[in-house]
Amino acid sequence: MKSLVAANWKMHKTLKETEDYLRRLLELVPPDPPVELAVFPPFTALARAGELLLGSPIALGAQNGHPEREGAFTGEVSMYQLADLGVRYVICGHSERRKIFGETDEFVAKKVRAAWNYGLTPILCVGETLVERRAGRAWEVVEKQLSLALGDGLFGPLVIAYEPVWAIGTGVPAHPQDAQEMAQRIRAWLCGRFGKLGEGVRIQYGGSVKPENAHEFLKLPEIQGALVGGASLDPQSFWAIALAAA
Ligand code: 13P
Repeated sequence: MKSLVAANWKMHKTLKETEDYLRRLLELVPPDPPVELAVFPPFTALARAGELLLGSPIALGAQNGHPEREGAFTGEVSMYQLADLGVRYVICGHSERRKIFGETDEFVAKKVRAAWNYGLTPILCVGETLVERRAGRAWEVVEKQLSLALGDGLFGPLVIAYEPVWAIGTGVPAHPQDAQEMAQRIRAWLCGRFGKLGEGVRIQYGGSVKPENAHEFLKLPEIQGALVGGASLDPQSFWAIALAAA
């Protein structure tokens, strides 16, 4: 299974900055890179990014998507519209969306189903807060997120990003041993629920991944990639992280 190293830009970059970034990244990445790469620009730059990445080995991803195909949902962008742009991956249930925008597990489940309906691969984000970890409830929380998002079944390709909330944007990553342990539990849960299908799911680690620490996570047997925020905003640094997975 090839690792997937993904650049979640969050609410960063103008159109011009997107063009400059992708041109530089395309110079760095060979035609057949040893890992799979995906870039998640803001909605305003998705179409242009899709044009620039066409025919390249770098996949296009979206940071969010609405499960309904179309309708009166002012300000939203649907999975159907994303698929129309050539988007391949869509992040579902990022902790920032859960916390800041009040997204529930039920809504996340709808997004995962809708992504499959329109031929996209969801990247389902799960992870506990620091209070939950300190209370020894990390797995309980992650298991609940998994079972509420995937309760209906596995109906398409899936990536799971284990992103402990306290490690996101803080500069303090999880201990690699803890990330490995959580990834093992996620894998066991997936295989327990979905049998052989569970083996094909890639599990990423996310939370303060940088070029200096990426190898610590990406060498772990149960981790097949990273979801990178801050350190993915520079193409050189993102490519250095990708190389650590090779
Ligand atoms: P940072 O890499 O900035 O900690 O963000 C992680 C993240 O939320 C990726 O989705």
